[in-house]
Amino acid sequence: MRDDLSGRTLAEARDAYGADLQFSFYQPTRITFGVGVLRELALELKRVGAARAVVVTDSFLAEKTPLVDQLRKVLGDRLAGVWTGVVADAEADTVDAGAGYARSLGCDAVISFGGGSAIDTAKGIAIVITEGGQIRDHQGSQRLERRLIPHLAIPTTAGTGSEVSCFAVIKDARAKEKMHFADDKLVPDIAVLDPAVTVGMPRSLTAATGLDALTHAVEAFVALPRNPLSDGLAAHAAALVQRYLLRACENPGDLVARGQMLLASNAAGQAFSAAGVGLCHALAHVIGARHHVHHGTANAILLPHVVRFNAVELSDRYRDLALAMGLDVRDSSEAVAAEALANAIADLISASGLPTRLRDAGVPEADLSASAEQALSDGAIVYNGRFAADAELTLEVLRAAF
Ligand SMILES: [Fe+2]
Repeated sequence: MRDDLSGRTLAEARDAYGADLQFSFYQPTRITFGVGVLRELALELKRVGAARAVVVTDSFLAEKTPLVDQLRKVLGDRLAGVWTGVVADAEADTVDAGAGYARSLGCDAVISFGGGSAIDTAKGIAIVITEGGQIRDHQGSQRLERRLIPHLAIPTTAGTGSEVSCFAVIKDARAKEKMHFADDKLVPDIAVLDPAVTVGMPRSLTAATGLDALTHAVEAFVALPRNPLSDGLAAHAAALVQRYLLRACENPGDLVARGQMLLASNAAGQAFSAAGVGLCHALAHVIGARHHVHHGTANAILLPHVVRFNAVELSDRYRDLALAMGLDVRDSSEAVAAEALANAIADLISASGLPTRLRDAGVPEADLSASAEQALSDGAIVYNGRFAADAELTLEVLRAAF
């Protein structure tokens, strides 16, 4: 029998916001998309008034792929130099070293080329070049004084959305902690989305980064600071991942799937830059730091369980998201639809080939309590749509995912 909540379409859903809705939405990045748009890079530099840029990338992309040579060619004399010191998880000492290199060349713009680590490293370099000192001097929220030198971001993975976000996470290896930066001035000026530069991504990285994008979308859709504009971006991003992730995994050269995944990552990045993320990211940050599990993989393992945990209070939101993703929940109650969403995400993760349990990713059961405790001090947890900042609750989710 259909209950009174079944049969609603997204357009007929109950009011998601009241008359007291207030928000601001800041998204200044110029986004240029298309196969081959990399060739327009010199023009994009001119657009931001820069004469000589430094490229910030990693040694793998520089040495094992022809992509950085392509950049050299298209930039010509607008290229000041290529810095290849980016490491996995952007790191403070490398940011300072990169800033020293860029400063020695007298460059007036940075171009990040790579995944989230390259983009976050370039954000750090832009901070140090503009504000002086070391990157450790500037961590925190809305603390930057000056407009940063122009930053053009070229993502080679489809997941972080860092090319449009106001956040950077930079590891302080000496202090063994992650520094968080949140500032409107960190949003890159231009994002160049060229599907052709992502075709070389291996299947496991395609899957992990794609699930990171889905997690941004699903978390932003229920986060406390959400608003109707971030909702639209998040719902569209989730629908794109649902439709295109496996296609990109199975056919690496499929430029349609690659392009739509870049757009999914970008839309999800805009959504979470406005709305924040939540419990899944708080737990994934801890699991990543303690056990070296890839950020996207950690999110993927945890996401279905976070959805089930949140569904106790947020099943109406999840039903709307399930409808937007094309799941067959028109005749389902909110609770059933939320469970269908969790199951659909779990199915996507299994089909992508990623591990589905924490134990399969090398996390020992004995560590769950300490991880649950540590997650309480992660900044993302405060934005979660259901109150989660209690060690019993975080442990409940970790146990479910173990
Ligand atoms: Fe993420």
